Amino acid sequence: MKIHKRDKQTATEEQANFFFTELEPYIASLGNNSAVLEVGCGNGVLLQKLAKCFINVDFHGLDSFGDGFEDTHQSIKRSLRSGGFDFYNTNFESFVPNQKFDVIFSINTVEHLDDWKTYFELCASWLKTGGVLLTFAPNYSFPYETHFGIPILINKSITYFVFKGHINTFEVINSHQNLWRSLNFIKKTEVLKFLNSFPCLQISEDQKIVERLVFRLKKDREFSARYQSLAMLVTLIKRLGLLNFLLKVNFLSPYMKICATKK
Ligand SMILES: C[S@@+](CC[C@H](N)C(=O)[O-])C[C@H]1O[C@@H](n2cnc3c(N)ncnc32)[C@H](O)[C@@H]1O
Repeated sequence: MKIHKRDKQTATEEQANFFFTELEPYIASLGNNSAVLEVGCGNGVLLQKLAKCFINVDFHGLDSFGDGFEDTHQSIKRSLRSGGFDFYNTNFESFVPNQKFDVIFSINTVEHLDDWKTYFELCASWLKTGGVLLTFAPNYSFPYETHFGIPILINKSITYFVFKGHINTFEVINSHQNLWRSLNFIKKTEVLKFLNSFPCLQISEDQKIVERLVFRLKKDREFSARYQSLAMLVTLIKRLGLLNFLLKVNFLSPYMKICATKK
């Protein structure tokens, strides 16, 4: 169950490549001196790639390296050495930007936030008119926890009660202390409902993200190493002949990509 360091590095690159492709259409159309912010930028590998490719755009990243992610603090130093983006070592709750942004995005971060509603409120206020907020995250309406690779049994406390041993061992051997505690079991339907209550935002979702993830999991060994438990689950679902059904039942979709544009 331990994820090896070399596998981790290659998989991080592969994950960054996947999300680079997801973000490219939004960033390629930006003019000179546009500004892009990643919240929960982790090791900064994706920002580094984006900054190398889109030299006319200013990139910014912030991360607090809180529960379960303390060791990522070291790896961002590598990305920062090559420059290309500004980094703020803070939580989003304390961040006071001195500018507005054309694109704000987060990848696999909102499911770790103590208060995801405040996150969306603040991001909406940091967007320029016409700016876009992109959210990529697991959807906890789907009864599977991807970090730990376990089924969700009714709710977080019952799941913990049943899988306590597995969860504690996983956190220790992967140096992810408090990772379980950080999870808020966010659901796509709740996020959509909340974002739709903002009169200043136009909301859309990209349901095809799951198909692209599944395709990538099939093609790319390093990528499936990063999403090992998701890859195993997808294989099982396919064997049971349930994949097409799941792709059609939107609220159960295991992953979300939500786009909010400021009017
Ligand atoms: C699963 S990691 C994702 C990192 C990166 N986006 C990726 O996909 O590899 C979640 C990140 O969110 C950060 N984070 C959690 N709560 C935060 C907060 N309140 N403010 C800023 N960053 C936070 C964590 O430190 C961690 O680096």
